[in-house]
Amino acid sequence: MNKLLAADYQNIWHPYTNTATDNPLFLVDSACGVELHLADGTSLIDGMSSWWAVIHGYNHPSLNQAAKAQIDKVSHVMFGSLTHEPAIKLAEQLLSLTSSHAKQDFARVFFSDSGSVSVEVAIKMAIQYWFAQDRPKKHQLLTVRHGYHGDTFAAMSVTDPENSMHSMFQGILAEQLFAEIPVYGDDIAWRPEYMDSIKAQIEQHHQSIAAIIIEPLVQGAGGMKFYHAEYLRQLRQLCNQYELLLIFDEIATGFGRTGSLFAYQAAQATPDILCLGKALTGGYMTLAATLANQKVVAGIHADSQEGKAGGVLMHGPTFMANPLACAVANASLELLQVNNWQRQVAAIEEQLKQQLTPIQAHKQVHEVRVKGAIGVVEMKQPVDFNWIVPKFVELGVWIRPFGKLIYIMPPYIIKPEQLTKLTQAIAQVISEMD
Ligand SMILES: Cc1ncc(COP(=O)(O)O)c(C=O)c1O
Repeated sequence: MNKLLAADYQNIWHPYTNTATDNPLFLVDSACGVELHLADGTSLIDGMSSWWAVIHGYNHPSLNQAAKAQIDKVSHVMFGSLTHEPAIKLAEQLLSLTSSHAKQDFARVFFSDSGSVSVEVAIKMAIQYWFAQDRPKKHQLLTVRHGYHGDTFAAMSVTDPENSMHSMFQGILAEQLFAEIPVYGDDIAWRPEYMDSIKAQIEQHHQSIAAIIIEPLVQGAGGMKFYHAEYLRQLRQLCNQYELLLIFDEIATGFGRTGSLFAYQAAQATPDILCLGKALTGGYMTLAATLANQKVVAGIHADSQEGKAGGVLMHGPTFMANPLACAVANASLELLQVNNWQRQVAAIEEQLKQQLTPIQAHKQVHEVRVKGAIGVVEMKQPVDFNWIVPKFVELGVWIRPFGKLIYIMPPYIIKPEQLTKLTQAIAQVISEMD
């Protein structure tokens, strides 16, 4: 075995792994465009964008240049009482991209270092908001089943308690409220009763609920399920009616992945708090942001009561607004425009529909679904992970299924022939399951 791989097997704990078992592991030496180059000389077309993040591909000259220029100025500086141009520009850009009809949907950007932490911050904002209104009983979160919001403790508390990898923490995590999973299928005819489950929870518990948190339009790690935009519009109305804040977690859906820059814009339902991460830096570095509207900001600041927070948002990570990450994020946002992300994502969507739909006919396939630059083949049974991942590598592609889901969300710069290689590999592997 390669010496580095051997050292990895000996010393490192990878995500969601038991170190006592041999998990498939591949050594990346470099990456360029949509290709990962392994140390043994193999090249793989990347179908995962390193978990939704690398939208412009690897080793991009503009993103490299942004990082290089910034590292020669300052690579990190504390954000308490100090600031810098990359963060200032990035906040301006994010607030402008989340504006509609010349009006900003959000008033402030709070930067943090990962998606999970941006969710922690969003939850903290919601709880602090109600503290400040002198309604401390409103501290619970309501969400839907099959959601996923990260691996830290508050984020895990709103991740599905039964159908997720976090079920073992039941009883330890803060107790939150769960409604049924939204009826899925984004092209289904809408029916009012689709709101029944969440409406019942709201009616019963609104006095104790600070906010509803949900991934808009696409439930990612909780099952790669797409649901109707009307659900979100009605949720917005219910939140207004029952005095609840609304948090959208767009860590996976943000920056064009579903075919609109942000899913909330396509749904025409604007949350009070928005979480962003993953593709924010084009997948180059870890950076996340929690955007809050004026109501939330002013509401938190209104708390000047003695013994309370005194209007201060109680959060401040060491690596908040890292200048390198902010500089690369600015370059990534520019690239989205230059590359015409709408055209890129629309072309991927069309090709995925054409090439994945025939796989639906296979007897082991439960369903094929495509939305924007996301293609999902849901099998009837869980796939054998230790067989399928090396099989994909043999076929020259990087696809990493979980459970029953074989899914891809490639970099937006992928060429049609590279995308065909991904879809053909999926068809080939499924045909070998007979
Ligand atoms: C919707 C959603 N929220 C939150 C997270 C957590 O983000 P991170 O892994 O950067 O902490 C993820 C990660 O997959 C996600 O998909």
